[in-house]
Parts: sequence; C-alpha cells; structure tokens
Amino acid sequence: MKIPITKTVFDGCEKESIVKPLETGWVVQGPNVAKFQEMFSEFIGVKYAHATTSCTTALHLGLEALGIGRGDKVIVPSFTYIASANAVEYTGAEVVFCDIDLRTFNIDENKLEELIRKDKTIKAIMPVNLFGLCANLPTIMKIAKKYNLKVIEDSACGFDAWIKDKHSGTFGDIGCFSFHPRKPICTGEGGMLITDNEEISKKVSQLKDHGASKSDLDRHKEKSGSLLPNFTMRGYNYRMTDFQGALGICQMKKAKYIMDGRRKIAKKYYEALKRFSNFLIPPYVPEDYKHGYQSYVCLFTSGENLSNLTKEKIDKINIKRNIFMEKLEEKSIATRQGTHAVHTLGYYKNKYNLKDEDFLMSYVADRLSIALPLYTEMNDEEFDYVIKNIKECLEEIK
Ligand SMILES: Cc1ncc(COP(=O)(O)O)c(C=O)c1O
Repeated sequence: MKIPITKTVFDGCEKESIVKPLETGWVVQGPNVAKFQEMFSEFIGVKYAHATTSCTTALHLGLEALGIGRGDKVIVPSFTYIASANAVEYTGAEVVFCDIDLRTFNIDENKLEELIRKDKTIKAIMPVNLFGLCANLPTIMKIAKKYNLKVIEDSACGFDAWIKDKHSGTFGDIGCFSFHPRKPICTGEGGMLITDNEEISKKVSQLKDHGASKSDLDRHKEKSGSLLPNFTMRGYNYRMTDFQGALGICQMKKAKYIMDGRRKIAKKYYEALKRFSNFLIPPYVPEDYKHGYQSYVCLFTSGENLSNLTKEKIDKINIKRNIFMEKLEEKSIATRQGTHAVHTLGYYKNKYNLKDEDFLMSYVADRLSIALPLYTEMNDEEFDYVIKNIKECLEEIK
C-alpha cells in the first residue's frame, strides 16, 4: 500500500470543464475566473475576491496595495513557509521575525507589542493561519489598531478555517489563499486575495493586470474594445488563467465534501493517537476555533518533556523524529516536517544575522513537527495501515 501525504479530489467535473476554455478560445483570465471569484467570496463571506497566479503573488500584491515598500518593516512569524517572508522582500521592505506559540504553531501574539514598540518602521503584521488554524486574530487586530498597523493574513492554508462565524482572511485588511495541490482546494498553481475594502480591491485588480485601468474581459464586453485602456500604476501579470478558474469552480462545488472528509479523518487521528500521546502531540484547537486541517501536524516528543528545551536537546529528539519518518517512508507512508523555521534558512539567516536559537519555539517546530497523511478520500484500510505502522515504528525507536 502507498500512502501519499495528500491527494486532490478531481473527478469528471474538472475533466470536462478544463477543456471548455479550449473550445471557446477564452483561456486567460475571463468568465471562469470571474465565477470562481464569486463562489469563493460567497463561501468566505467577503465583498471582493481576486484570483492570482499563487498565494505568494497575492501576498506581494496585497503588500503593495497597502503601500508597503522600501524603508518599511513587516512582522512575519519565524515558523511559516518561506513564501510569507519572500513576499515582504519583493516589496523592498524588511522582515521582522516573531516567534510562535508551540501549541498552535502560529505567531505568539504576546511577543508582538515588544517588537512593535522597539521599531517605529514596522508598518504591518502578516499573521499566518498555519496548517488550517487561525492565529489569535482578535488579539492581533487589537494590537494592530493600537499601533495603527496594517494586517495582511497569509491564509494560504486557511480555507474553511474559522473563529466563531468569521472566516480566516477576513480579520485583517487583506487575506491571501493558496490553491497549490497541498491545499484542500486545488487549481494546480493559484491563489486568491480577499478584502472588504473597495479601494484596496480596485488597486489589486489593477496591480495584478499590469496596472491596467480596465480588465480584458470588461474591455471585450464594451464597444470600444479595440482601444487599450490607460495604465495608471506600475503593475504585474499575476492573472489566473481561465483553465484554473474552471478547476476552481468545480472545487468550490464540492468544498463541503472535501472539507467534511478531511475533518472526518482528523477526528479519527485524534482518537487513534490517544494511545501514543507521550510520543506525538496532536494539533491543538482553541475554543471557538474551527480547524481546516490543511495538514495534520503533530509534535514528536519521543516521550521527552518539552519544557526547558535547549538546542542540544531539540537536536537529539530531532534525530529520532527523522528516523521515525524514514521508517514510515520504508512502509510507503509519506510524512513531512510541518514547515520550516524561516530564520534558519540560508538567505534569511545571513541577511538578518540570525541564530537558530533566536526563535526557539520555531526551531522546535521545525525540528520536531511531523505532518501525517490526510486526504478526503482516505479509506479505512489506508487509515488503519498508517496507525498500525505508527505504532510499530514508535516501538522500534523507543
Ligand atoms: C503559509 C504559506 N504561505 C504561502 C504559501 C505560498 O503559496 P503558493 O504556493 O500558492 O504561492 C504557502 C504554500 O505552501 C504556505 O504554506
């Protein structure tokens, strides 16, 4: 049996709809993208949604639309995918890392104010709703208001993640989502920027289309379609193709099925992992939060107490985690480290002169996290095979 880390849910809908743009000839951003944006904004409960080529480009657009640039700084959690920080660097602004809360893997809101007070050039916070769990956005928003900072949520993993009845990505000025195959809703590559702010929305639709004051679709619908529009800002080509829009429509039609399936598997993991709780800590879900389980990320403890951790102790447990992952791989079960501590990666480490221990919880998460396979259509046989092998592999490395 071969168990991948995740699997997309594609069926006849995707196969049929993806050839339609070939027939109509409208293959770039057009009616399918418009419909996908409409369905996405309706699901989330937000006024404006703009499809992009990826979440990374959505983040870049969002930061520019908020006026972030050279001379500014943006707070980013030190445990996230590198794209969060890269998007800040694209604008010429600098990254200020903030450590995470190990229970949620999200930015530690208690460490924010100290950073903000120290540096007047901080202009924005980029909380990341990692693995499908919202960061503590109500508190982050209070801090942002107090210091007059912009908030752009990296919600690449945050589809169908909620705090009470508010969806991830709707707390800040802007939220950005990813449709990469590791995400529950997939369009190949692809992203979406959402906002309730009309001015930001207008700016984003221009910025993603070279700065054009009118989209191709709108121009073609009008009489004077042969004349190019005015370009009032320097923009980019971050437009989603209509093939991807067509995929997005199909994915949104079955969003409930996709997410119900993922939550069902997550629930089974919680039950099954109880007997290994000394070795694997399952994802934590605070009260009033609804987890989207983009990934099911546990913390590997190997029976050790995780308080008072030193780098040496973390590195020792890390060796065991890696052996555990290798053993599962030998059984054809894919796992992954959750994501990486960006401050430990060459570019950021060198540019900002950082040490691994500077953000210790992020370092722990990098070295000890483990994502288990999770996908909507994981059947009982596959699930039982994973659990049986987790048990055997843990026993072997005890
Ligand atoms: C937290 C986070 N931010 C940003 C991204 C980038 O998304 P994309 O691949 O759509 O650019 C990812 C992708 O994995 C991510 O996990």
